[in-house]
Amino acid sequence: MKIGIGNDHAAVEMKQQIVAFLEELGHEVVNYGTDTNDSCDYPIYGEKVGRAVVNGDVECGILICGTGVGISIAANKVKGVRAVVCSEPYSAKLSKQHNNTNILAFGARVVGIELAKMIVEEWLNTEFEGDRHQRRVSMISDIENR
Ligand code: RB5
Repeated sequence: MKIGIGNDHAAVEMKQQIVAFLEELGHEVVNYGTDTNDSCDYPIYGEKVGRAVVNGDVECGILICGTGVGISIAANKVKGVRAVVCSEPYSAKLSKQHNNTNILAFGARVVGIELAKMIVEEWLNTEFEGDRHQRRVSMISDIENR
C-alpha cells in the first residue's frame, strides 16, 4: 500500500520508527515531513497529508503530533478526509470497519512505539464493512456539501 505520513516536531523520532515499521511490512511510504526537531505548526502537515489522500497521491495517511489531536483536526478540515485519533487498537479497527477512516493519527507523547505499531497494524489490516455504515459515512460527506 502507498501510505502518506506527516508529523510535527513532537513526533520526528516516532515517525522514523513508524516509517521503518511500515517498510518492513512491505508498504511504500511518502514522507510529508517535518524531519527536524525545530518547533513547527502541525496544521501544515495535517493539511499536506489530507490533500495527498483526497487527491489519490497516496491510498491512506498516518499523522503524528504530541497528542494526535491538533494534526487530526487539521486534516479533517480537508473535504473527504476522515481522520481518527487513536490511543488503542480497538478504536483504530472500528474506525475502519464502521467509519471508513482514511487517516490514522496518534500522539507521540501519549502512546509508546510498540502500542503505536499495534494501532497502525490493526488499522491497516481492517476493511470497511460498508452496508449500513456506508449510509452513515455518506451522511458525513453530505455535511461537507451543505
Ligand atoms: C506541540 O507542542 C503540540 O501542541 C502538538 O504536537 C500537538 O500535541 C497538538 O495537538
